[in-house]
Amino acid sequence: MKLLAGNWKMNNTLEEGADLMEALIEGLPAEVVGDVRVVVSPPFLQLPQTVHALWENAQIAVAAQNGHAADGGAFTGEVSMAMLRDAEVDAVIIGHSERRQYFGETDSDVAEKVQSALRNQLIPIVCVGEVLAQRKAGTYLEDTWNQLHAAFARVNPEDMSDCVIAYEPVWAIGTGEVATAAQAQEVHAYLRAQMEATFGVSDMPIVYGGSCKPSNAAEIFAQPDVDGGLIGGASLVAADFIALVELLKAS
Ligand code: PGA
Repeated sequence: MKLLAGNWKMNNTLEEGADLMEALIEGLPAEVVGDVRVVVSPPFLQLPQTVHALWENAQIAVAAQNGHAADGGAFTGEVSMAMLRDAEVDAVIIGHSERRQYFGETDSDVAEKVQSALRNQLIPIVCVGEVLAQRKAGTYLEDTWNQLHAAFARVNPEDMSDCVIAYEPVWAIGTGEVATAAQAQEVHAYLRAQMEATFGVSDMPIVYGGSCKPSNAAEIFAQPDVDGGLIGGASLVAADFIALVELLKAS
């Protein structure tokens, strides 16, 4: 399955988010989207209006950028996966490197969140990826796999095909430095092989993220184990995000 997800991060007012959504709905009719699964991931407060804007539109799905593993309770400031499902959200990004880096999320937190998402019928978009020091030390394949293995360790293999994996090398996120197509393919193929060898499941989409934009995406999307992208900066510009959908469809 080809999948393109836009991670809006902590950007836009309600009105700006609504305008962006309107431009995406207009620019992404069924004939443009084709066989690409398109996902947008606005900040929490923009989720309800985004879900409402898409009521008549099966082409685009909505993801949250985070969720708490518990279904409810005394967790001030948090939003549960159950609440996201109640708000008709379809998916949730879990373990983004910014969550790991700035909010101390551990592999074990990520594992709990993946279980919670599946329990609440949300598609988990599970992010993994090495930091620059690991890339330089040459340990990036095993470091990335260790994160992924931990995330799926307690998941029933039958549920794994419903998940999405996002490989996002941390040194490429928001830096303008994109992984080469060969670098992305190497890690994607390794993760897929490890998923198959360990859990017997490898048909979930594995998407690339990190400074992916229309000028560099074609070669990355053309790789056999790259099933799409998780897009940050370029997802805030409707024309760029639409161009990425078109490039992915053509790949
Ligand atoms: P970027 O972000 O495209 O701005 O590098 C990707 C992401 O963090 O998901």
